[in-house]
Amino acid sequence: MPVPVRKAIFPVGGLGTRFLPATKSMPKEMLPVVDKPLIQYAVEEAREAGIEQFIFVTGRGKTAIEDHFDHAFELQSMLASRNREEALSVVKSTIPDPGQIAYTRQLDPLGLGHAVWCARNFVGMEPVAVLLADDLILSEKGCLKQMIEAYNEVGGNMVAVMDVPDEDVSSYGVIAPGDVKDRLIEVRGIVEKPPLADAPSNLAVVGRYIIQPKVFEDLGRFERGAGGEIQLTDSLSRQLGLQPFNGYRFAGRRFDCGSKIGFLEANIAYALDRDDMRDDVSQILTTFS
Ligand code: UTP
Repeated sequence: MPVPVRKAIFPVGGLGTRFLPATKSMPKEMLPVVDKPLIQYAVEEAREAGIEQFIFVTGRGKTAIEDHFDHAFELQSMLASRNREEALSVVKSTIPDPGQIAYTRQLDPLGLGHAVWCARNFVGMEPVAVLLADDLILSEKGCLKQMIEAYNEVGGNMVAVMDVPDEDVSSYGVIAPGDVKDRLIEVRGIVEKPPLADAPSNLAVVGRYIIQPKVFEDLGRFERGAGGEIQLTDSLSRQLGLQPFNGYRFAGRRFDCGSKIGFLEANIAYALDRDDMRDDVSQILTTFS
């Protein structure tokens, strides 16, 4: 069996310019879908998948994320004194065990690959998951748990993939698919943000990865790719042939919460998914048509 995945990296160093002015003083990852920040969904997904150590790669202006995963003493003691047990347990449920979360700063937002590389000393010589909180995935079993179950059979590098329409292909990393076995698709090539004419398929990479330590060596070469950024998919591409590399076509619905429409869609879908909100939201939606 491959070395188990115990750690996860959460790159949260991006600028979130598509959400200005909301993200002027608030990290994009703190935007709430219904009542929970995006980053908390990602942490819960990782925990469900068996992750024990959470590594955040942050940037300037991201302290709200650290505060979110810490005690809020004043709030907690106020809720306790008023016997607001339910609210208190919601607040406490966000707090990890001491030492479970580590923070490092990216210093300069040079791209996703660079953000991941910044976490190298916390990872060491073992595989690690990478979760992008702005890719929110609604599914019965968490996307990362699905991937880790498949990874435990095949090892190597793995990316979550989904089919996207032609007009969206150039916004994603895209794989050249090989052999297919159930949800696993062998990756024969991967290219970041290709023009449609050069795209090897419509299978796009979304923000869940399992990467092997060798990938960090390659990221450390700081080769610039699409958009002048250091791209994670480029380093994965250079590992082709050296270790297994698979795409995992996850079960679930993914929302691009880095975009306004995707974020709104996620709020509606997550509200409709909740027993306490479904009827009211359905009713409200009928008033718009
Ligand atoms: P995006 O491409 O969505 O960039 O990054 P962004 O800066 O967050 O948002 P926009 O485009 O300006 O609105 C994809 C993911 O990679 C992380 C982001 O935090 C996000 O989760 N990222 C990106 C970094 O951590 N560092 C970077 O240098 C770039």
